Amino acid sequence: MIGKTRAAEAAIAEVKDGMLLGLGTGSTVAIFIKLLGERISGKGLEVLAVPTSYQSAYLAAENGIKLTTLDEHPRLDLAVDGTDEVDPNLDLIKGGGAALTKEKVVDSSAKRFIVIADGSKFVDRLGLKMPVPIEVLPFARMAAAQRIKILGGDPKLRDGGDRKDGPLVTDNGNFIIDANFGKIKDAGVLELELKRIPGIVEVGLFVNLAHTAYLGYEQGIKRIDRRK
Ligand code: A5P
Repeated sequence: MIGKTRAAEAAIAEVKDGMLLGLGTGSTVAIFIKLLGERISGKGLEVLAVPTSYQSAYLAAENGIKLTTLDEHPRLDLAVDGTDEVDPNLDLIKGGGAALTKEKVVDSSAKRFIVIADGSKFVDRLGLKMPVPIEVLPFARMAAAQRIKILGGDPKLRDGGDRKDGPLVTDNGNFIIDANFGKIKDAGVLELELKRIPGIVEVGLFVNLAHTAYLGYEQGIKRIDRRK
């Protein structure tokens, strides 16, 4: 928890008055949203934000953050999002919370995209700890799974968990396939190969998108910037 809080605090320091923000999804972003709410109510900070999920939209509204859409503001100043894995190039695996599609749209619409995460999310090579979440049209789930296998993945349809019988349904009405590829050699190539499969809506590989990562540890914060 302390790692996530430190990372969220580091990102808050980059938020300036009048900014158009992208709000990612997950427990680390939830801390960021609360801190942002405190800045708005306590210091009169004014921002407009585009959320990437129902979770972030509702939490933002509860914390007094004014929301907008990409229709109104297609270009954002700053996106802040969590991650499931981050490697030394700042390439990411995202989608543990099934919000990857809107996250990728919003994160890539920002002039600057900051990743905030507990230090445990840092890996030498993507795929070491996490399968790749893939959002897929329900209609295409079997056909897409077969093609994922041909690319060397082990696809599993994500279950809705204890409180939902059957598969998880995303905010966009689709399913998630978690595909284990083991250590990923070239995330950019794999992302493109997966995106060529009909029925796949989006892939949780975020390549060449993040500019800075703040990784929080008990002892402090580590900042990593993308090499130019
Ligand atoms: C949501 O789908 C994910 O991409 C999250 O951003 C990611 O799972 C990070 O979540 P935590 O901040 O809860 O670790």
